[in-house]
Amino acid sequence: PCSFQGFFNISCLSKVLDLPPENLIKSISAVPVSKKRRVADFQLSIASVTEDNSSDCLAPDLHLQAQKLAERLKCDAVVSEISAGPGTVNFTINRELLAKTVLRQVLKDGSEYGVKSELFSTVPKQKALIEFSSPNIAKKFHIGHLRSTIVGNFIANLKVALGHEVIRMNYLGDWGMQFGLLGVGFQLFGNKEKLKTSPLQHLFEVYVQVNKAAEDENTKKLAKDFFRKLEEHDEQTLSLWKQFRDFSIDEYIRIYKRLGVHFDEYSGESFYQEKSKEVLNMLENKGLLQKTIKGTGIVDLSEKKDLSSFSTVMRSDGTSLYITRDLAAAIDRMNKHNCDTMIYVVSKSQSNHFQHLFQILKLMGYDWVERCQHVSFGLVQGMKTRRGEVIFLEDVLNEVRSRMLQNMASTKTTKEIEDPMETAEKVGLAALIIQDFQGLLSSDYQFSWDRALQSRGDTGVFLQYTHARLHSLEQMHGNEQLTDINVACLQEPDAISVLQHLLRYDEVLYRSSQDLQPKHIVSYLLTLSHLAAVAHKTLPVKGSAPELAQARLCLFQAARSVLANGMKLLGITPVTQM
Ligand code: ARG
Repeated sequence: PCSFQGFFNISCLSKVLDLPPENLIKSISAVPVSKKRRVADFQLSIASVTEDNSSDCLAPDLHLQAQKLAERLKCDAVVSEISAGPGTVNFTINRELLAKTVLRQVLKDGSEYGVKSELFSTVPKQKALIEFSSPNIAKKFHIGHLRSTIVGNFIANLKVALGHEVIRMNYLGDWGMQFGLLGVGFQLFGNKEKLKTSPLQHLFEVYVQVNKAAEDENTKKLAKDFFRKLEEHDEQTLSLWKQFRDFSIDEYIRIYKRLGVHFDEYSGESFYQEKSKEVLNMLENKGLLQKTIKGTGIVDLSEKKDLSSFSTVMRSDGTSLYITRDLAAAIDRMNKHNCDTMIYVVSKSQSNHFQHLFQILKLMGYDWVERCQHVSFGLVQGMKTRRGEVIFLEDVLNEVRSRMLQNMASTKTTKEIEDPMETAEKVGLAALIIQDFQGLLSSDYQFSWDRALQSRGDTGVFLQYTHARLHSLEQMHGNEQLTDINVACLQEPDAISVLQHLLRYDEVLYRSSQDLQPKHIVSYLLTLSHLAAVAHKTLPVKGSAPELAQARLCLFQAARSVLANGMKLLGITPVTQM
């Protein structure tokens, strides 16, 4: 798909070509960049508009068809050049029109540029529940949780920008036997003051301590008793557990805020221990629950019903498991929110779990499961902070901030920054996010502070730097109104490259919205930054004649605006100084 931005009259073109407009829309695409230039703005692929695109031996024929087609089409006020490529017809837009249309659109739509494109006009607006982050209380907030947090936030941002309704949900690991241990641990080693002031760290320490003590049978028994009391809703036990949860959430909220992330709902496994029983009853009633000799409850997931694949949903003592709670949670969420789609942003190590979850829901007759999706991501290897292995999210944030501060201190402009700590944090986060989003989410990658924090090359630091530079250009020369500019001034190849690239923004949003991969936007923004940096060098504002300076300023303003929009979608706060 491709942006037309009003350039092509599809119905006209469809008459000339004698093709249905739908075909045409799908067949027109961006011209790939070679050596930083595009030979044209749009291309029509012949193979995809003709019916017989099945056989390769047609290739020479396609070329011929392209040539014939190119000859039949006439240039007009919009299209200034039409040429045939290998199997494609290439269109070049009138340069002045390109400049005028793109700049007008970017500056008019502001933060809505791209999302208002015709491309999205046929996409129905949906309500999406996005579950992400979901750490476990008293356990490590590992890098997988960080990845889930930034990916989920990105998906939510993108959907909101595209006009969908989004519920951001955090599903805490706040139930299970470990809370028996934690409760006993707290009675032994806990400190009420520390629980209030630094709950995450304190509960983690208590949990580590009690795990050591749990080799002793007596502690084990106490932990079992504590958890049983929890399950029986003993008031005192429950009130201590509730403090663990509440204080932890307070601290999570504070730290997520540093990341620029918020949640509409803090759910958790604890919500579903009762409802899990109902799920087991339903499974039983539907004849889906089988008992093993050991007394555990399983659901047969195999096609031939020979138990070659199954999922355990009940312990021998009748209690629920992780998957049972997820079944209950899914049904409850759907009932409560009646959403069109549910997305789980969780590491690919849990792919099996989600496959089983969806299979069981399907067997139970919930057809909406077709609209549930596990967005999985790969492993991040080797992230360490000065404190060693990552245990708390806050350590990562502190580390990236202090590393960035150090880097900034070695450049001379930093002294003038109003709040270097905050700038360092925002730039550092951009670095983490861009490193993480550069590849396919499903691939694993080796984490590197140095690579992420490089100021040149394809990094978040570079994006922030470009944004800050473009911003200060505006500060220095003031914002120009489009009405004042003469677009004929923007005919240099470096200006055209920026304009052509700005034109493509909606396509990139479209692509990311289809496969939920942030990498399309990342590579788009990096290219935009490189193009803008080149243009900034070759097309000076200072010292140019007023008309020229104004037109260039307008171009840079548009580039900065789109850069900022894209960065925000990725979860990055653009800085204005660095
Ligand atoms: N708390 C889990 C963990 O840290 C992740 C939860 C994922 N979401 C879910 N609905 N199961 O592994």
